[in-house]
Amino acid sequence: MRTERLTLRPYQEDDLDDFYACRSQPEVYRYLYADSPDRAAAEEIIAKKMTQDELTEEGQWLVLAVYWPEAGRVVGDVVLKWLSEEHRQGEIGYVFNPEFHGKGLAREASEVMLKIGFEDLGLHRIIAQCDPRNEPSWRLMERLGMRREAHFRHFEIFKGEWGDLYTYAMLAEEYRGAAS
Ligand SMILES: CC(C)(COP(=O)(O)OP(=O)(O)OC[C@H]1O[C@@H](n2cnc3c(N)ncnc32)[C@H](O)[C@@H]1OP(=O)(O)O)[C@@H](O)C(=O)NCCC(=O)NCCS
Repeated sequence: MRTERLTLRPYQEDDLDDFYACRSQPEVYRYLYADSPDRAAAEEIIAKKMTQDELTEEGQWLVLAVYWPEAGRVVGDVVLKWLSEEHRQGEIGYVFNPEFHGKGLAREASEVMLKIGFEDLGLHRIIAQCDPRNEPSWRLMERLGMRREAHFRHFEIFKGEWGDLYTYAMLAEEYRGAAS
């Protein structure tokens, strides 16, 4: 898939250097449910992501590596989880190498996941969630046109302390409204 600046496609083995360059930075994992992997673990993670290349049933994740030709690098990835077939629900997520933050690339790639979710999969509602302290993440949700629906306080113990959770969402009709 192409956007103005980006190519989105499933991960491939030779993306490991770019993937590790991103994932080896502890700051990237500050608000993710894991810690920064070593190279061997990164290789295992990317092998799994390579298999997450389509959505055929609910519960699956579609993972697309985001390649930026201008840099000649994979600069991050975006995901779409098919949460429910019956209720036509999905969830998006994104992780970008800090070297490439602040350029609108995550937004450009995330818009593709909304498009796939609403237009190809026929979803009715797509959510995104983050820790309220992860301001770059919820600001991106707002730039995408998503609405903050919930602020759960002390939702879970996250990295050893009580963590809050924001839930943002967008309905298909809002997506269509924004596009027209
Ligand atoms: C969340 C994350 C993907 C956001 O990345 P980002 O680069 O801030 O997001 P965008 O692609 O929307 O870029 C927006 C910024 O680019 C700027 N920008 C520059 N050129 C732009 C362009 N051509 N188009 C749009 N925005 C542009 C915007 O002004 C904005 O800057 P600001 O934040 O200073 O206002 C990133 O912080 C990240 O990967 N974090 C680590 C992993 C993580 O926490 N993931 C989320 C878990 S819930």
